[in-house]
Amino acid sequence: MTKKAAPKVGRHVLWFSWKLVTFFCIAFSLVALFRLHLRYDISSSAVSRTRSRIHYDGPAKIAFLFLARRELPLDFLWGSFFEIADVENFSIFIHSAPGFVFDELTTRSKFFYGRQLSNSIQVAWGESSMIAAERLLLEAALEDPANQRFVLLSDSCVPIYNFSYVYKYLMASPRSFVDSFLDRKESRYNPKMSPTIPKGKWRKGSQWITLIRRHAEVIVDDEIIFPVFKKFCKRRPALDARKGKMNMKLQKQHNCIPDEHYVQTLLAMSELEGELERRTLTYTQWNLSTTGNQNWHPLTFSYANAGPQQIKEIKVVDFSCFYIVKDGYQDEYCDI
Ligand SMILES: *[C@@H]1O[C@H](CO)[C@@H](O)[C@H](O)[C@H]1NC(C)=O
Ligand SMILES: *[C@@H]1O[C@H](CO)[C@@H](O)[C@H](O)[C@H]1NC(C)=O
Ligand SMILES: *[C@@H]1O[C@H](CO)[C@@H](O)[C@H](O)[C@H]1NC(C)=O
Repeated sequence: MTKKAAPKVGRHVLWFSWKLVTFFCIAFSLVALFRLHLRYDISSSAVSRTRSRIHYDGPAKIAFLFLARRELPLDFLWGSFFEIADVENFSIFIHSAPGFVFDELTTRSKFFYGRQLSNSIQVAWGESSMIAAERLLLEAALEDPANQRFVLLSDSCVPIYNFSYVYKYLMASPRSFVDSFLDRKESRYNPKMSPTIPKGKWRKGSQWITLIRRHAEVIVDDEIIFPVFKKFCKRRPALDARKGKMNMKLQKQHNCIPDEHYVQTLLAMSELEGELERRTLTYTQWNLSTTGNQNWHPLTFSYANAGPQQIKEIKVVDFSCFYIVKDGYQDEYCDI
C-alpha cells in the first residue's frame, strides 16, 4: 500500500522519496504455478525452522512480494516486465484482501494467477496488521530456498527498469536496500517500548524494502520486537464526536505508523545496519503543494504524468543526493 506518512526530510518541502522500482521476470507453466502454490500453502513451522540450514546453489530467484488492497491495477505492466524474464529467476507472492482470488477474471497477467497467500489478513493502514502482512509474504517466500532477494512492492508500484537490469542490480549487491535513519523531528517512539526497544535503536524509513535472504529470516523469526510494536506502536485515531471523552485518551496515543519503523528498528537492534544500503529502490514524490495531514501520501502518478519522458527523468535523478546519512540523520543536500 502506497500510503504512508511523509518523512519530513530536511527543511524543504517533502519532495522526494520513492515508489516504484524495477523488477520483473517470467512465466512458470500454469501447472508449475499451481504446484508451487500448493507447496507454499503447506508451510509448517518445522519447515521454517530448518530453512536456514538448506544449502542452495541452483539459480537464484528474486521474490516479488506484492502488498495489495485488492487487485493489481498495474498488472499489465508487470506482465510485460515478467514476460522477458527467465522463469527460474523469479517468484511472485501477493498479499491481498482475504478471500480475493487472482485468476483470469481479476487479473490481466497470467503471472499472478493463484499467487495470493491463502493465509492473508485484513490490513489497516497505519496499523501493525500492515507489518504482519509483510511478514506473511516473507515467510511464504522463504519456503523456496531459491528465493535469495525479497522485494516488497505496493499495488501502485511499477518497474522502471527491465528484468535483467533489476536482476543483475540486486544480485550484485550482498546487502539489503533499506531506507533507515534517525528522524530529527522524531515523535513516534513510545517510551513504553523501553527497555525491549531502547530509544537509541529507533529508526525510520520507507516501507519499501529489498532484502537479502538472511535479513528476511531475521524478520520472520522475530518474536520479540513485533509484539512490542503491536502493543505500543499504533496509529492515533481521528477525532470522533461519538466517542466523547474517550477521545482524550485516544488522542494521547503516539502516532506511530509501524510500517515506517519496524524493519528498520529490528535490523538496528540485530546489529545488521552494516549490511544495509540505507536507501530504498522505490521512487516516490512527496513534494506535494498541500500541507499538514494532506501529506500523508505521496503523489500518485497518472497516465498524464507517467509518460516515457517523465520516466526517463526519474531514471536520471541522481539518487546519491537523496541518501546522505550523517550521524545517523538523513539529510538532503542536493537541490533539484
Ligand atoms: C535492459 O535495460 C538495460 C539498461 O536500461 C539495457 O542496457 C538492456 O539492453 C535491456 N535489456 C533488455 C533485455 O531489454
Ligand atoms: C537468470 O539467472 C541467471 C543466473 O542464475 C542469469 O545468468 C540470467 O542472466 C538471468 N536472466 C535474466 C533475464 O536476468
Ligand atoms: C516535485 O519534484 C519534482 C521532481 O524533482 C518536480 O518535477 C515537481 O515540479 C515538484 N513538484 C512540486 C509541487 O514542487
